[in-house]
Amino acid sequence: MTASTILRALRGRLLWFLDDPQIAGEAAHRFIADGLLVVENGLVKAAGEARDLLRTLPSEADIVDHRPHLIMPGFIDAHIHMPQTQVVASYGAQLMEWLNRYTFVEEQKLGEQGHAEKLSRFFLAELLASGTTTAAVYCSVHPQSAEAFFAESQRRNTRMIAGKVMMDRNAPEALTDTAESGYRDSKALIARWHGRGRQLYAVTPRFAITSTPEQLAAAGRLAAEHPDCHVQTHIDENRAEIAFARELHPEAADYADIYRRHGLLGPRSLMGHCIHMTHNEWQAFAETGAVAVFCPTSNLFLGSGLFDWAQARRHGVKVAVATDIGGGTSYSMLRTMAEAYKVLQLQGQSLPAFAALHAITRGNAVALGLDRWIGSFEAGREADVVVLDAGATRAMAHRMETVRDLAEELFVLVTLGDERNVAATYVMGERVGL
Ligand code: GUN
Ligand code: ZN
Repeated sequence: MTASTILRALRGRLLWFLDDPQIAGEAAHRFIADGLLVVENGLVKAAGEARDLLRTLPSEADIVDHRPHLIMPGFIDAHIHMPQTQVVASYGAQLMEWLNRYTFVEEQKLGEQGHAEKLSRFFLAELLASGTTTAAVYCSVHPQSAEAFFAESQRRNTRMIAGKVMMDRNAPEALTDTAESGYRDSKALIARWHGRGRQLYAVTPRFAITSTPEQLAAAGRLAAEHPDCHVQTHIDENRAEIAFARELHPEAADYADIYRRHGLLGPRSLMGHCIHMTHNEWQAFAETGAVAVFCPTSNLFLGSGLFDWAQARRHGVKVAVATDIGGGTSYSMLRTMAEAYKVLQLQGQSLPAFAALHAITRGNAVALGLDRWIGSFEAGREADVVVLDAGATRAMAHRMETVRDLAEELFVLVTLGDERNVAATYVMGERVGL
């Protein structure tokens, strides 16, 4: 160990995934009842039995005892809007009215000096307090909003994917760019932020309603010029939205085809919602490797509909899960999965706790193509960690008295849990103040 090496070990009940429990069953997860997660210079060095690993640790290692809490890889949120922290819980509207009446009004404020900085600070603090250490983030149309967000994420050393929204029509004047300026500003942000520290860029045309074909083509050019950047957008969320999108792009065979013909469907494309998908659209996702992003609290809150996970699986389409704040109503990925369970229940589908916890850790890491870096405790991964107390609330502690095994405990955690269950969050092995 050299003088500059920082060695830290977290002791507790370790849980992480090596595979998808819906495919590999019991073999998909590792659970160690008295485990040690050894972190060297921010990366996982080892995860195993405490009694074995403690013997190998040098005396100067910093050991943090989190027993009896659960220690898991930090949660990942695959779709969330930074400018909507003060849009959340806006009453009584479905998508298009909700956008015009509330969202576009709040997003204009990010043009004011200091507002994007203020929201970014709040947003990242709230994510970390909820145990979320990585997210795919929409900023506003203002390049400064992405600049502010990346600067704050860089300061906290969090691994974030983000992009300036591109929108050149069907929105207030103050919220529109042009095909040309959207391209130029996004390109400059990519040059400045993509791959800098832990920051990653997503080309972010808002959706087919707020982008002209010229702007979608420009976004497609950006994606082609920067194949390791993500693309993120919205699709098939709401029936009125679909009808309007089809009207605006009559040349396309369906909604997915609008994006596909502009080169925006690919393995790094994160497609928000995917509720009212046709067979051909699922097929297009399967062929291109595009990811369907399930946002249960948002889909219920905006009355958008029920995401059909079984259908995605049947078509071999990757699924990620997300909060979609501010259409969504909770920053917590635990709460998000509780609502996912109910959405699936309404369709006769199931979601065991292991599958839910896999989805918000390794599952999302794989869907986002980030599993080489995050989402598990395999050696070499970045040590983003959430420490969970399944008995943190009175009702949960009471319910925990009767759980008989790990699967039951985890189901209580997923069903009743939220940010109150987060005992600690670590970013690259450093504990953050919650
Ligand atoms: N479609 C286009 N923009 C948005 C947005 O901000 N939120 C949601 N839920 N859907 C969208
Ligand atoms: Zn969204």
